[in-house]
Amino acid sequence: MREGFFSDPPTVPPRWFYDEKGSLLFDRITRLAEYYPTRAEAEILRSRAVDIVGDATTMVELGAGTCEKTRVLLDVFSRRTTAPPAGAAAPAGAVAPAGAAPPAGAAAEASPLFVPVDISTEMLFDSARALAAEYPGLRVEPVVADLTALDGPLPGEPGGRLVLFLGGTVGNFSEAQRADFLDMLRGVMDPGDRLGLGFDLVKDPARLVAAYNDADGVTAEFNLNMLDVISRTVEARGLDRRDFRHEAVWNAEESRIEMWLRAIRDVRIDFPTLGRSRTLDVGAGIRTEIARKFEPYALMDELAGHGFLRGPVWTDDAGDFGLALVVVD
Ligand code: AVJ
Repeated sequence: MREGFFSDPPTVPPRWFYDEKGSLLFDRITRLAEYYPTRAEAEILRSRAVDIVGDATTMVELGAGTCEKTRVLLDVFSRRTTAPPAGAAAPAGAVAPAGAAPPAGAAAEASPLFVPVDISTEMLFDSARALAAEYPGLRVEPVVADLTALDGPLPGEPGGRLVLFLGGTVGNFSEAQRADFLDMLRGVMDPGDRLGLGFDLVKDPARLVAAYNDADGVTAEFNLNMLDVISRTVEARGLDRRDFRHEAVWNAEESRIEMWLRAIRDVRIDFPTLGRSRTLDVGAGIRTEIARKFEPYALMDELAGHGFLRGPVWTDDAGDFGLALVVVD
C-alpha cells in the first residue's frame, strides 16, 4: 500500500476492500440488477459443471469468498469420488486446518478435497464450515492467503488439481501483475493440473459503468469502506469517507473499468509511523481498482505464453462473460 499510495496517481490494491463488511458488500453487489458478471458466470458453471470438474481429485478456489458460485461444481465434485473406506483419511465433512498431515496410510484419493483460499478470514471460515456440513464426503481445508503470494506446492495430488480463479478477478491485475500472477501460479501447479479462469468480456461501456456504479449505491459503499479498512489496519489519519466520493469510469485505451475515490475537498493524509503524508487537492483521486475486460482469444494466447495449454473457452448465452479451462503443460 505504501508503494501505491505515494505514486501518481495514488493507488491502493483491491485486497483492502475485503474485511468482513467489504466481503458482505461484495456479496450484495453480486445480486444487483446492474452487476451481470456473477449471473453470467453462474450460467456457464451450471451448464458446464461436468466438463469443468472432469476427473479432478482436488479443487482449489482462489478468492473463494462465500463459495456460493462453487456449489454447482461441488454438487458434481463431492459425488465424483467414492466415499473413503472405513477408518481412512479425515471424517466426512471435516474442516481440517490447512497443511494438516493426513493420517498415516490414508488414501490420497479417498475423498475429494476442496481448498477455498481467501484473504477475508471470517468469511472464509464461515463458508468452509457451512460447506463441510452440507457436503458429507467432501474434505474442506480453507487457507487464508493473499492469492498473489501463494506458497507451493498446492494441497492435493499433483496432476489431479483443478484451480479455479473465478468472477473476473484476474481483471484486477495490471498487465505486469497478471504476468507475475500467472508465473507464480504455474510455479505452484504441476503438469496435468487444470486452471479454470473466469474473465469479463469487452462490451457496451454504458453497461460496464452501470455494473460498477449501481443505482442503490452498494458499490459506492464498497469503495468507501476501503478507507475504513485502511484506517483500522494501519496508522493513518485523514482517510475520512466524508471527504471522498465513489467514481467508476471506462478507460477505453486500457480496456478497463477504473474505480476511484475522488476528493470532494482538499485533504491531507498522514501516516505517522511512516513519517509521510500526502495532500490531495479537491478533484484528485485515489485509484482503488481496475477491472480489465478481455477479448477471449488474446487472453488464451497470453495463458499459453505462461505454460497453460489451450482448452475450451465458454461464454454465457448473451456473450457477456467467459470461462477458459486450460491445462498445465
Ligand atoms: C470480485 C474483482 C471480480 O472487479 O468486478 C465489483 C470486484 N468491484 N464491483 C470486479 C468489484 C466493484 C469484482 N471482482
